[in-house]
Amino acid sequence: MNTDGRTRLNRTPEWSALTEHREELGGVRLRELFAADPSRARRYVVRVGDLHVDYSKHLVTDETLALLRELAEATGVFGLRDAMFRGERINTTEDRAVLHTALRAPREAVVEVDGENVVPAVHAVLDRMADFAGRVRSGEWTGHTGRPIRNVVNIGIGGSDLGPAMAYEALRAYTDRALTFRFVSNVDGADLHEAIRDLDPAETLFVVASKTFTTVETVTNATSARSWLLAGLGGDEKAVARHFVALSTNADEVAGFGIDTANMFEFWDWVGGRYSYDSAIGLSLMIAIGPDRFREMLEGFRIVDEHFRTAPAEANAPLLMGLLGVWYNNFLDAQSHAVLPYSHYLSKFPAYLQQLDMESNGKYVGRDGREVEWQTGPVVWGTPGTNGQHAYYQLIHQGTKLIPADFIGFAEPVAELSDELKAQHDLLMANFFAQTQALAFGKTPDEVRGEGVPEELVPHKTFKGDHPTTTILARELTPSVLGQLVALYEHKVFVQGAIWNIDSFDQWGVELGKVLARRVEPALTEGADVPGLDPSTAALVAAYRELRGR
Ligand code: F6P
Repeated sequence: MNTDGRTRLNRTPEWSALTEHREELGGVRLRELFAADPSRARRYVVRVGDLHVDYSKHLVTDETLALLRELAEATGVFGLRDAMFRGERINTTEDRAVLHTALRAPREAVVEVDGENVVPAVHAVLDRMADFAGRVRSGEWTGHTGRPIRNVVNIGIGGSDLGPAMAYEALRAYTDRALTFRFVSNVDGADLHEAIRDLDPAETLFVVASKTFTTVETVTNATSARSWLLAGLGGDEKAVARHFVALSTNADEVAGFGIDTANMFEFWDWVGGRYSYDSAIGLSLMIAIGPDRFREMLEGFRIVDEHFRTAPAEANAPLLMGLLGVWYNNFLDAQSHAVLPYSHYLSKFPAYLQQLDMESNGKYVGRDGREVEWQTGPVVWGTPGTNGQHAYYQLIHQGTKLIPADFIGFAEPVAELSDELKAQHDLLMANFFAQTQALAFGKTPDEVRGEGVPEELVPHKTFKGDHPTTTILARELTPSVLGQLVALYEHKVFVQGAIWNIDSFDQWGVELGKVLARRVEPALTEGADVPGLDPSTAALVAAYRELRGR
């Protein structure tokens, strides 16, 4: 038994049953599964909110799904889920509650952390954000020289960048087009340079987003932005108060940086960075789309939260997606998972999910402090599907790796497109459906021969098929639908972390690199000796200094 009282995952009867089942199933073919059960296309569908989630093109049977649900039951997924919603400290290595779900709880809800209802504070911040966003959007909030704000530059990294930047892009059609939005994350000075080079400081608002307010990339960029602003506005320090706001949990550091805490929008340590763009971290997004649309997005999150909390296991979309991932990752040796949106507006969604999934579940130590003996989180990757078709889909179709994929598409193009551009939508979606069809069912050698293909080319033109996909379809990419999609993946990641018995809410693995960077920097700038620097890195540092003429 583990220290947490749980038998090790790979020694449970449920795990063994799945291992045996995999042997029995052998090289199951999707063509056969559909032939044996034509109702599969109808039965293997879950509706959640506006999302139509079709998992019929997976290498699973009713028995596979039942065994996976038993694994979820045996590993305590439902108990941990309920503990999360109740505000218990399930992030044990940091001794914190995990309550991103409270960020979208309705005003009248009660969610307690240590006996205190956190919902009033959540709504107080949302109201302050709405007031501020409204004033920026209307031009009432002016810069130091009295001119209205026309440009908003979000400075943050990781969850303080990927979420707002992804959502801004996703909801671009809903944004105030009179305002310009830029997102700066990279400590490479080029990022900030390109973001501000054509902006007028008198009309620019910097939104400094950092949960800790100690992240060196963000603080460095914010410091440079401040210098640029002051240089452009005649050096009057008072300008900072009109042009800088902070989004953070750390009032002391915000004040220490020189931002008045009256211009700070707060969130709490029970919100993980990668789960935070529906908190104050979403301020830039709220300025872009307006408070009402932002609240619609929160409503979308809430729909899926409720579904995850209450839907039966057989029809629980995040649970099913999590279980399917476990099936491929742990029983069919898949190493990665592709997310392929057929929407230009979701171009940043895969990158956002990379942090959500890989920072959450990229762990080799379990909640019991012992090394796991099973695979944990997959490599998550992807880009908009149509572009991928002309780049890496070859490998998905005919390569040697099993790559389960999610296809995300919409029935309606965005309303503001011209009629001619709207007409392109059916072509986009024809590709969407054709690709999952080709991936699932392929093309047999006989079908290839039937097209008159010369025998020597038949193997090259054969598609084996049986590449599993989930299809997620909605009518339109609205703020609510975006919230639903994000919550769907948040809870999928939760399910997998619970099964693998890892803490999905810490991220100790990013610390070592940060510490070493701090140690190496003086060697680059001043040639300082770094005690204990390994010979490989020392040689690289020397080469760098030589190239810089130092
Ligand atoms: O280094 C990783 C990380 O801590 C992420 O988890 C987080 O989203 C990012 O850095 C930014 O952190 P902060 O919001 O505190 O600046």
